[in-house]
Amino acid sequence: MRTPFVVGNWKLHKTISEALALVTELKNQLGAVKGVAVGVAPPSTALHAVAKRLEGSSIAVASQNHHWEISGAWTGEVSAPLVADAGATWAIVGHSERRQFFGDTNEGVGKKAKAALAAGLGAIVCVGETLAERDASRTLEIVDAQLAGALAGITDASRLVIAYEPVWAIGTGRTATPGQAQEVHAHLRKQLTARFGADVANTIRIQYGGSVKPSNAEALIAEPDIDGALVGGASLEVADFVAIVKAARGNA
Ligand code: PGA
Repeated sequence: MRTPFVVGNWKLHKTISEALALVTELKNQLGAVKGVAVGVAPPSTALHAVAKRLEGSSIAVASQNHHWEISGAWTGEVSAPLVADAGATWAIVGHSERRQFFGDTNEGVGKKAKAALAAGLGAIVCVGETLAERDASRTLEIVDAQLAGALAGITDASRLVIAYEPVWAIGTGRTATPGQAQEVHAHLRKQLTARFGADVANTIRIQYGGSVKPSNAEALIAEPDIDGALVGGASLEVADFVAIVKAARGNA
């Protein structure tokens, strides 16, 4: 029903030449893979070169962040139309590192999601609780507020992907168990159902992110509401990322 979607979030890694070496290998190894959609999110300096190299392949390119404005006096920013011009077809918005270190708010994430969709990009909207929030049993309340902020004013969900990324699992080697992740994913789908109706909600992919590795990907994606992965560290190595993509294949 939902084709799993696996995206590599490279964060602040890879020069242009390193990025090209990585995607050339991914293109060779995943060019013909079926039953799974694949994307990479390079740093913005490598976005155009990567998109050019991936032309003619089914591997999509995503930006990691953009400003909600289209253009103007915003020194240091890139906009959704500019990353689309550089070759991105997807945009990650609201990653926890943006929220934690760069001041992205629920409202700001909503404006960025809207800007992405308006520029013709798909939006990968990240939500997730911190360890303190989980320990205080506030996980669902936190992701609800993040989801509501991100989706404010959005009526067309056809290019929307949600990524559940518990902050305590990102880059820590500590993964949510498949059961813990599925519980939140099922809750998010319920919220999406309330908002868009069941028919639409059942088509929206909800990725899991947070220390996804070849060794845990299959069990996570086997859960009914886990529709792929947003992969950080393990997406920087060809063999690991290819193994995760293959583990996701056909496990919608
Ligand atoms: P990680 O990062 O796989 O390195 O934990 C995931 C993410 O931040 O998207």
